[in-house]
Amino acid sequence: MQVIVLGASAGGGFPQWNCNCTNCAGLRDGTVKALARTQSSICVSGDHSKDWVLVNASPDILQQIKATPELQPGRALRDTGIAGVLLVDGQIDHATGLFMLREQKQRLALWCTDPVHEDLRQGNPILRVLEHYCGVDRKSIALDGAQFEIPKVEGIHFSALPLASKAAPYSPHREQSVAGDNIGLTITDKVSGRRLFYAPGLGARDDTVFRRMWEADCVMVDGTFWTDDEMIAWGLSTKTARDIGHLPQSGAGGMLEWLAELPAHVRKILIHINNTNPILDEASPQRAELTRRGIEVAHDGMRISL
Ligand code: MLT
Ligand code: MN
Ligand code: ZN
Repeated sequence: MQVIVLGASAGGGFPQWNCNCTNCAGLRDGTVKALARTQSSICVSGDHSKDWVLVNASPDILQQIKATPELQPGRALRDTGIAGVLLVDGQIDHATGLFMLREQKQRLALWCTDPVHEDLRQGNPILRVLEHYCGVDRKSIALDGAQFEIPKVEGIHFSALPLASKAAPYSPHREQSVAGDNIGLTITDKVSGRRLFYAPGLGARDDTVFRRMWEADCVMVDGTFWTDDEMIAWGLSTKTARDIGHLPQSGAGGMLEWLAELPAHVRKILIHINNTNPILDEASPQRAELTRRGIEVAHDGMRISL
């Protein structure tokens, strides 16, 4: 299978429009060595498929499509390489890009869980608004790990499991999470059997999730914050990383400990990185620690062949 990282940043992007943290200001004035990143999305296809699934529709989708020739194969006057869209949650950074796909000629094929569907019809009624444009042909993602395929995206299949994380701030169940607010995806190549585990919003460890990570050949997981109190320390929020559904990398029980338990052959990549995270700075000690541990930091345009 082929995986392209369209956007490796968390909500807000990097640099964020209104932010002057060390990373954002340093990227703008050239004093921090780092790559700019757009908001969270990947696309995936089988090796011989010209059609891709878009996993999360970022507010930056138009820029991401322009940067990715595979997504415009040019087979007809109006065409796209995006055969379907799959959402792992209903967050603004993962769903707003649906509006930008409204010129689609057929109903937009959309896979999401029932709670995300409800949120995108009620709290943030993107799907109801889209009915005035292309409309969506929505398919439900089961939470029991059942395999499913996306028509036209040949050579791969998908399965999902619920994650401990948070629904979007506008959701009526932001503080009373329900199963399916966030999912982790296993994407399997039907020929080679190789697996990607993708979970950009992962707030807590549990055995089922760990098993899925252990079975994968590559994990792309929540890289939002380095420390649990990162936003508090900057004076930007009163909430910890865990409070908003993101497991920090450092500290007891953090993502680094978790990744260290995976078999050595598993490729480990952090994605959905907040602009305050010191790992974005390629000269930082935190980035050096990741390198020592064999952990990669996703960037826009990163291509992975599995
Ligand atoms: C998150 O991942 O916690 C959200 O995308 C934050 C946001 O909407 O900015
Ligand atoms: Mn996000
Ligand atoms: Zn910033």
